[in-house]
Amino acid sequence: MDASLPKNMADKAAERAAAHVRMFIYFAAGMAGLLFGLDQGVISGALPFISQEWNLSSAAQEWVVSSMMVGAATGAIVASVMAKKIGRKKSLMIGATLFIIGSLGSGFAVSADMLIGFRLILGLSVGIASYTAPLYLAEMSDKNARGRVISGYQLMVTVGILAAFLSDTAFSYSGNWRMMLMVIALPAVLLLLTVIRLPDSPRWLAAVGRIEEASGVLEALHGSVEIAREEMKDIKDALKIKQDGWGLFKANKNVRRAVFLGVLLQAMQQFTGFNVIMYYSPKILSLAGFSTTEDQMIGTVINGIVFVLSTFIAIFMVDKNGRKPTLKIGFGVMALSMAVVGVCMSMLEAGTADISISYLAAIMTMVSIAGFGMSAGPIVWVLCSEIQPLKSREFGVACSTMTNWITCAIVGATFLTLVDTLGSAHTFWLYAFLNGLFIVLTLAYVPETKNVTLENIEKNLMEGKKLRNIGC
Ligand code: BGC
Repeated sequence: MDASLPKNMADKAAERAAAHVRMFIYFAAGMAGLLFGLDQGVISGALPFISQEWNLSSAAQEWVVSSMMVGAATGAIVASVMAKKIGRKKSLMIGATLFIIGSLGSGFAVSADMLIGFRLILGLSVGIASYTAPLYLAEMSDKNARGRVISGYQLMVTVGILAAFLSDTAFSYSGNWRMMLMVIALPAVLLLLTVIRLPDSPRWLAAVGRIEEASGVLEALHGSVEIAREEMKDIKDALKIKQDGWGLFKANKNVRRAVFLGVLLQAMQQFTGFNVIMYYSPKILSLAGFSTTEDQMIGTVINGIVFVLSTFIAIFMVDKNGRKPTLKIGFGVMALSMAVVGVCMSMLEAGTADISISYLAAIMTMVSIAGFGMSAGPIVWVLCSEIQPLKSREFGVACSTMTNWITCAIVGATFLTLVDTLGSAHTFWLYAFLNGLFIVLTLAYVPETKNVTLENIEKNLMEGKKLRNIGC
C-alpha cells in the first residue's frame, strides 16, 4: 500500500485493486467453464457430418463421443497430481494449452482414429479444467461470495453448451464440422492469456512453504492487511497436520468422511438423471411425440436457454439462502417433474394421450432442467471444493471429480437400455424416486457452508462433528 496516501484513500485504492484482481479471476473461471460446456455441447451437432464423411460404424461413433469422457476422468487424476506439485495456476495453463491442441487437432483430423486421439486430449483438458477451476475459485474467493463465484463458473458451462449448439447450427448449413470443432479453441486462448497474469492460490503457496507470497496474494485479494493476516493464521493451522493426500486419508477417519461426502454428492448429481435429458433430448422429445427435426432443434435450444436462466437462481440463492435449502428444492422439483414426465410417457405408450400430453412432457422436461440448473448443477461443485481439508484437498477433489465423470458415463450408457427394458415411463419414475431419495440424503449428510471460511469447515470436520454440521 502507498504510505503517502491518507488511510481511507489508501484503503479505497487497495479495495479497487482487489476488485480488479478478482475480476480477472472470475473471467478466467468463466472461460474454463465455457470450454467445459462447449466441448460437451459441440459433438452432437458435428457427429452426423463426420459419420457421413467417413462412413462411421455405430461403435466408431460411440468412441468419438465417449473418448472425451475417458480423457476427462483421466484428466481429473492427472490434475490432482499437477495441482499439488506445480500449483493451480500452472495446471489451468496446461489445461488451456491441451484444449487448444485438442480442438485444433480434432478440426484437422484426417481419420476417425486421429479424431478419437485428439478428443482424448480434449477430454484430458476438460478433466483438468473441471477439477482445477472450482478448486482454485474456492481458494481465491471470499467466504461470503464463494458460492456465487463457483456457481458463476457453472453458469458459463451452461452458456457453453448453448453456444456450442448455436454455433453447430450456424455451421451446419455448410456442413463444416471442422469449423464446429475448431472455434471452441477461442475461449481456451483467452483462458491461457488471462491465467498467465493471475496469482496462484494462497492456500497452495502456503502449503509449499511460500508463505510470504501467499500473504501477498491474500492482501491483494482482500484489499486488507488485517483480514489477510487472520486468514493466513488459519491456513497455517490447517497446514500443521503432518500427513497429506492418501496417507492422511488412510490415517484419519474424518478425512475419509469428507471424501465419502464428495463422492456421494457427485454421484447424487449424476443420478438425478439430468445428463440423460441433456444427451438424449431429441430422443426424449421424439418419445413425447415431437418427431420432426425442427421441433427437436427448437426444443433443444429452449432447454439450453432454460438451463442458463435457472443457473442464475442458484447464483442468487447460494450465498443468501444457503446450499442446503437450494439443493433440497432442486431435488424436489426434479422428483416431481420427472414423475409427471413418467405419467405422460405411460399415457403415450398406451396410446391414450393427445397432443396436450406431449406438450406437458416437453414442459416438464424443461422444469427438471431448471431444477438441476438451480441446484445440483452448480451447488455440488461448490460443496465439493469446500469440504476437503487443505492437506488432502487435491486427493479429495480428485475422488469426487472422478466420480462425476464415471457416474456420468454410467448414466449415459444405461439410459437406452433402461428405456428398452423398463419402458420410458418406468425409467423416469426411477429417476423421480432417486431424486426423492436425494432429499433424504441431503437432510442426513449435507452441511450448510455459506459464509463459513474453508478453515472453519475443516476445523469442524476434524473435530469429528457430524457431516451435516461441519458448516455450523
Ligand atoms: C455436471 C455435468 C453436466 C453439466 C452441464 C455439470 O455440473 O457435472 O455432468 O453435464 O453440469 O452443465
